[in-house]
Amino acid sequence: MLVMDGIVKTFFPGTVNERRALAGLSLTLDEGDFVTVIGSNGAGKSTLLNSISGRIAVDGGTISIDGRRVNRLREFQRARYVGRVFQDPMAGTAPNLTIEQNLALAARRGRPRGLGRGLTRKQRERFREELRVLQLGLEDRLHAKVGLLSGGQRQALSLLMAGFTQPRILLLDEHTAALDPQRADLVTRLTQRIVEQGGLTTLMVTHNMEQALALGNRLIMMHEGRIVFEATEERKRRLTVPDLLAEFQKIKGATLDDRALLG
Ligand SMILES: Nc1ncnc2c1ncn2[C@@H]1O[C@H](COP(=O)(O)OP(=O)(O)OP(=O)(O)O)[C@@H](O)[C@H]1O
Ligand SMILES: [Mg+2]
Repeated sequence: MLVMDGIVKTFFPGTVNERRALAGLSLTLDEGDFVTVIGSNGAGKSTLLNSISGRIAVDGGTISIDGRRVNRLREFQRARYVGRVFQDPMAGTAPNLTIEQNLALAARRGRPRGLGRGLTRKQRERFREELRVLQLGLEDRLHAKVGLLSGGQRQALSLLMAGFTQPRILLLDEHTAALDPQRADLVTRLTQRIVEQGGLTTLMVTHNMEQALALGNRLIMMHEGRIVFEATEERKRRLTVPDLLAEFQKIKGATLDDRALLG
């Protein structure tokens, strides 16, 4: 479904600030795979996601989705294939638009603009139903500006919006990291539900090892722009946090932050 082969990305090449973010990374995802991604700060996790969504252009290697090479497609051209939720709750939604307007935009994503400007009653009812499931009371606030919502509410909304269009691939970048434990838990459960319901192929970056083990059918660990450890179904099910810590320790120079250790 997704094939990445020999992906290389260097920021500020040839300068003192040169950073090799991806160093020949290869990764293949099958339809419905749910892969959790862990790794120390600067390992290249966000750059991996950015290269899939087209936010950044890679220097080398090929990326294909459904057998179609997407290297040259710009970010907005890939929006039809890719849904994503970031760490920052403010990033995924438009604060000055209402909940309803945000959802309508998401539902239209990747389609020609100008189609069906007005919202039909059926669409509005669908939005209400989807929101009701979140149990955040948002179904009664369709006309409230999104900027008034809490971080957790916005993150839940972002996730709903990302799942809305049934993207070919869902990219989650520490999307629960900025939330309090209760809200993080809610968004984690919502993630599981949306991924399962839609059978979405998903890449989820997290610093929380418990979460990385609890979710998904595959796990990868990145370091210095490469995948240094990988576990699929069987092996992942048996993996423990101490196993992961041991794997981290095998990597020379890798440091773990407090979030990972305490998570
Ligand atoms: N837009 C950018 N411009 C310049 N350098 C960048 C940019 N994005 C990432 N980098 C560099 O690329 C490397 C990988 O960064 P990346 O953000 O992918 O790491 P990460 O694994 O997501 O880390 P974290 O866990 O801290 O989010 C780092 O050295 C970083 O400084
Ligand atoms: Mg990152």
